[in-house]
Amino acid sequence: MKYSKVWWKEAVIYQIYPRSFMDSNADGIGDLKGITSKIDYLKDLGVDIIWLSPHFKSPNVDNGYDISDYENILDEFGTMADFDEMLAALHQNGLKLIIDLVVNHTSDQHEWFKQASSSKENPYRDFYHWKEEIPNDWVSFFSGSAWAHDKSTNEYYLHLFDKKQPDLNWENQKLRHAIYAMMLFWLKKGINGFRMDVISLIAKDLDFPNFPLNRFGDLSYYANGPKVHEYLQEMNQEVLSKYDCMTVGEAFGVQAEQAVSYVSNDGKELNMIYHFDHAVPREESCFIAPKKEFSLVELKFIFNKWDKAIGTNGWNTVYFGNHDNPRMLSRFGDTGKYFQVSAKMLATVLLSLPGTPFMYQGDEIGMSNANFTEIAEYDDVQVFNAFEVLVNQQGNSSEVFLKASNQIARDHARTPMQWNKNKNAGFTTADKTWLKLNDNYTHVNVADQVEQPNSILNYYKKMIQLRKKHEVFIYGDYIDLRPNCNKIWLYKRCFEGENLLVMNNFTPTTQSFQFDFKINNRILLLTNLEEVEFLENQEFTLTPYESRIYLFQ
Ligand code: GLC
Ligand code: CA
Repeated sequence: MKYSKVWWKEAVIYQIYPRSFMDSNADGIGDLKGITSKIDYLKDLGVDIIWLSPHFKSPNVDNGYDISDYENILDEFGTMADFDEMLAALHQNGLKLIIDLVVNHTSDQHEWFKQASSSKENPYRDFYHWKEEIPNDWVSFFSGSAWAHDKSTNEYYLHLFDKKQPDLNWENQKLRHAIYAMMLFWLKKGINGFRMDVISLIAKDLDFPNFPLNRFGDLSYYANGPKVHEYLQEMNQEVLSKYDCMTVGEAFGVQAEQAVSYVSNDGKELNMIYHFDHAVPREESCFIAPKKEFSLVELKFIFNKWDKAIGTNGWNTVYFGNHDNPRMLSRFGDTGKYFQVSAKMLATVLLSLPGTPFMYQGDEIGMSNANFTEIAEYDDVQVFNAFEVLVNQQGNSSEVFLKASNQIARDHARTPMQWNKNKNAGFTTADKTWLKLNDNYTHVNVADQVEQPNSILNYYKKMIQLRKKHEVFIYGDYIDLRPNCNKIWLYKRCFEGENLLVMNNFTPTTQSFQFDFKINNRILLLTNLEEVEFLENQEFTLTPYESRIYLFQ
């Protein structure tokens, strides 16, 4: 046995973006009671763990990723009683909950920052990074310098994100212990773990060096700082090791070769991380010149690299979408004629590659990018800040900016969940939703798909159940059979005499191929077509976006 068997390895994780999941009180904004009202849906889907994007008190500059009070609830999301009720209901239904831990930065409205910026002598001053002069040329992920001027004390503070998201100084022991106490507060309530926001960025190089020539904006200057492992080990000792909880770190700027240092089996730091190698790049310039989408060969290469780099020394994750990326269907599938079949094909891949899979709300019904027609339709600080710099200050064309945003903006993943074909997709009874809906909700919605046996939603359910039946999906070795093919993603998974053969056609055309090894006694476990054309012997033909999973000896 190469791996120890643990619940979070066997689980399917489902991410909820609370603002866009379900509105219970007709203000057009999703909330905790809304989530509680949909627990039957989640249970029926078969997922095991819910990752909740931030629900903490926040002025909401970055949709809750700017926290002003870690032990209270964002006003629009409800109350602590609503949280407790949601957590209890999830647990009663056999679901676990992990919450977002956003501790690289706070909101500038957090009491710590208010104190810190009130005077240089304030005991909280050292909770943040202050400099008399801007010390380097670092840029913020949300445009402009990473240093902002504080009027009251006439110094500059570091913010890797918006200037209303000042970075915390982890060097300060009191700060670290305040964070551990806060984590214990939530663990005592019974939450089952944390997704850790940009955790790779918490430890800064306190020399704050400039970027060397031609390496402007290089992430390696922000991430994996000198003491990151020391801090995570301390956090583990003080907090995580005391609970049977799971952790997944958002590993912005972490390279595959560095992964094991975070997620080693010795259990001293984190259980899992997720990388950015196939994410849509965050650089500001992409809002004018978006990078080309990854080809299938590139995607496989990235996946293979991480699978090998972690190997049996730790545990991997799989995701193709989340609240920071456009919709996975728009990126890797087809939103036209092959919409249904390609969404199911992506489900097959997501749920059959090795590593704990992360589903993102709405992907299970094939939600795709929305068509934003003007900048005012967005509600994302990243877009607004980039627009300010690129268009207002630098004079780039707003059409070009809009076009790029329609391809890469995070809001594509944040449009409200499409529950049914009624007004506002059944997300709210208010007249307006906080962010516009994707108008395809009249034909892409949960209610319809619950009824249709061959819907994308029912396919996800089948696929999730299959994972639960066959351990090879979880613990099987992964062997890529055609790493250099840009058309099909074809792989084996092998575990204790059970073998899977997974075939996915990533193209809108038919693909035929042969095997040079014997596939004995094969049983078709799953197909995303209503009818599969069988050929004898070792030859296979896959129609557009077809997927199949065989069990063989
Ligand atoms: C993470 C979050 C993202 C947020 C950023 C700053 O990358 O996923 O949504 O804007 O951190 O907290
Ligand atoms: Ca609401």
